[in-house]
Amino acid sequence: MSENTAHKHEHAERSEPAYFSAWGLHAYYGESYVVQGVSLNIHEGEILALLGRNGAGKTSTLRAIARVDSPHLTHGEIWLDHQPLHTMKAWQAARSGLALVPEDRRIIPGLTVEENLKLAQLAPSPGWEISRIFELFPRLGERRNQEGITLSGGEQQMLAIGRALARDIKLLLLDEPYEGLAPIIVREIERTLREIKSLGITTIIVEQNAIAALELADRAVILDMGQVVFEGSAAQVLDDEDLRHTYLAI
Ligand SMILES: Nc1ncnc2c1ncn2[C@@H]1O[C@H](COP(=O)(O)OP(=O)(O)OP(=O)(O)O)[C@@H](O)[C@H]1O
Ligand SMILES: [Mg+2]
Repeated sequence: MSENTAHKHEHAERSEPAYFSAWGLHAYYGESYVVQGVSLNIHEGEILALLGRNGAGKTSTLRAIARVDSPHLTHGEIWLDHQPLHTMKAWQAARSGLALVPEDRRIIPGLTVEENLKLAQLAPSPGWEISRIFELFPRLGERRNQEGITLSGGEQQMLAIGRALARDIKLLLLDEPYEGLAPIIVREIERTLREIKSLGITTIIVEQNAIAALELADRAVILDMGQVVFEGSAAQVLDDEDLRHTYLAI
């Protein structure tokens, strides 16, 4: 057996059950050690809620998984559908099916709604047709010729999610999709996330609105000070007042 095969074999034993696995991730912003040995597993089609107080390391964990330069990942393995994301740059991870929808949504100025989606579809493996994205988000269809950055916060969030779906993705990472949005818009985005879930798209959702995230999610991981302090079903967190009080302040 070659060294390479031996390595693959060892890995297969550790991670075979999961579609997505992160093992022992350690990441730093300069000297600042923010992701301290985080491990997560997600089965295909599951939604995982990644929760924790402000500063717990949720965004940093998503960024480390997406392989952006900062925080810098120093140790750990990240596997998505048998592909080693830990060996990749952000653009390669994106090409391997990873889509990060960041908190600030990054709508491209100067482009209409439709152009923002068309640009995403230029990816090597395109995903949904634009018409299908407009079926999921009728508000976007109505505003197809409006400049993307002039959309309301909720509509921009829809566009950011739509843009992820315009590529052929395997894992959707959502960082605070409900942030700053009115409850009625939160409900609308929740409905679309349920629809996305029914289509079997594997998702990690980070949310300060933990209850809303837990109602959507199958499982939950809670971070505190850069480490995993709880892993279990979403129902377990909803039922455990002490746990919610200690780590989520709800
Ligand atoms: N660019 C950065 N440079 C240095 N430290 C950072 C940077 N971004 C975040 N941090 C620090 O890393 C830690 C984790 O931050 P992170 O943004 O991952 O937390 P979070 O769980 O997403 O919090 P929130 O709920 O407030 O979004 C915090 O202590 C934060 O101050
Ligand atoms: Mg954050």
